[in-house]
Amino acid sequence: PPSACTLVIFGANGDLTKRLLIPSLYDLAAADALSNDFSILAIDRVQATGESWARGLRETIESFAKDPTAEFSAAELNDTAWNSVVKTADYISGDFTQPELFQNLHGRLGTKNVIFYFAVPAGLFAVIAKNLGDAGLLKEDEGFYRRLIVEKPFGHDLATARQLDVDLLKQADESQIYRIDHFLGKEVVQSIMAMRFANSLFEPIWRREYIDHIEITAAETIGVEKRGKFYEPTGALRDMVPNHLFTLLCMVAMEPPINLSAKAVRDEKTKLLQAIRPLKPADYVRAQYGAGQINGQDVPAYRNEPDVSPESRTETYSAMRLYIDNWRWGGVPFYLRTGKRMKGRSTEVAIFLKRAPYNLFDRSEDMSGLANIIRLRLDPLHDIEMSFDVKKPGTGEILTLVQSVFSYDEFFGKETNVGYEALLYDCMKGDQMLFQSAEAIEAAWAAVEAINRPAETDLPVYAAGSEGPKEADALLAENGHKWLPVT
Ligand code: BG6
Repeated sequence: PPSACTLVIFGANGDLTKRLLIPSLYDLAAADALSNDFSILAIDRVQATGESWARGLRETIESFAKDPTAEFSAAELNDTAWNSVVKTADYISGDFTQPELFQNLHGRLGTKNVIFYFAVPAGLFAVIAKNLGDAGLLKEDEGFYRRLIVEKPFGHDLATARQLDVDLLKQADESQIYRIDHFLGKEVVQSIMAMRFANSLFEPIWRREYIDHIEITAAETIGVEKRGKFYEPTGALRDMVPNHLFTLLCMVAMEPPINLSAKAVRDEKTKLLQAIRPLKPADYVRAQYGAGQINGQDVPAYRNEPDVSPESRTETYSAMRLYIDNWRWGGVPFYLRTGKRMKGRSTEVAIFLKRAPYNLFDRSEDMSGLANIIRLRLDPLHDIEMSFDVKKPGTGEILTLVQSVFSYDEFFGKETNVGYEALLYDCMKGDQMLFQSAEAIEAAWAAVEAINRPAETDLPVYAAGSEGPKEADALLAENGHKWLPVT
């Protein structure tokens, strides 16, 4: 386990803390991956005590076991693990904008190793960092560290991301700042590097000579839920693309790093993002969900969701065609899409290889045109599927399409992993490899700058429970391509 530390959570009553942070800490405790002296100091405006906070959390987390959409679903909590991380937590109610709170913290934290977790709306990041800095809480010493974990969204465009960096770097050194993107905590996402760079089976064909195009999808069936206040000024592009989808893009398209140090890996990601040809409005489709049905249940249109304007032009779906102007990928289209209230939940990367140069065989039984695809399915399936043509037994040279699947869950057993475990663990170890660098974030915002603008007219509407808007099909049709169905 990493050395002892105190995790100070700003926003201890928020959704992120309940759904992701605490379940991940619990998983780490249950796997014996936390120091015996690990402790939590929970902070929020809401009045509570450590005991009442822990009790409330336990009730919430136990209710997840009955909720099929919750990432965390331990039916019975292991008391030893729970007590060691949550029951012993301290709680302070206070206002993050007031310096007094931070003076109080100074006394409590002394010379401990501390991770400050910003699980708060983005508008509070800079003020909390300033208050921490002013109170001397970010000064490190040989004997102890001070680190900040900053949630996304990191700014809402290039200028605001730069400004936030300036604000953070006034208070702390780059080595103390951990910008989180929870997609990097997903096991199968991390394994893309191993797949590509530990096997000579894949890497030689992983380039423009053999790859026709690549699709990256993050489709969700959930709607905006109770997050209207956050989502209205954010939308699908800012919420998902320069962060999560570009994280997948980096993993799948970056060059091999010279080693696994944070610097080497992050530099390769940055170079890749800097090579994205800046997106133009013609390469981009956005849309909003209308009313429809999900799993046989009627669901409302986005404009009728709580805290959403009835005239909203916020997109809940974004799709784009992008090109990476470098030697490996020149001319290969990458299609990215993400949407809420779509027909199915699937996060995946699909690599479409070029067809064989000519057809030697009598005929193919498969009319889909989908031979030679490598699908990296990240959620909810965790597998790698390869489809290719084989000869159908019998007379005649007839091809048929088959799939070969490697399932992580079947092979290794299903692990509980809500996606933050590896990230929290790495932060405690001081490894920034899985966190975003400032340069990468800026390059990502720069790539989408021309499409990251408010819509001037009402957006196309797709029915909830559908595959998304037809306009997105046209983006691919120009090159003779099609989206894989979302199931
Ligand atoms: C979050 C977005 O960062 O990622 C959400 O704010 C989205 O809108 C979520 O639902 C998707 O993550 P996952 O791990 O559930 O695919």
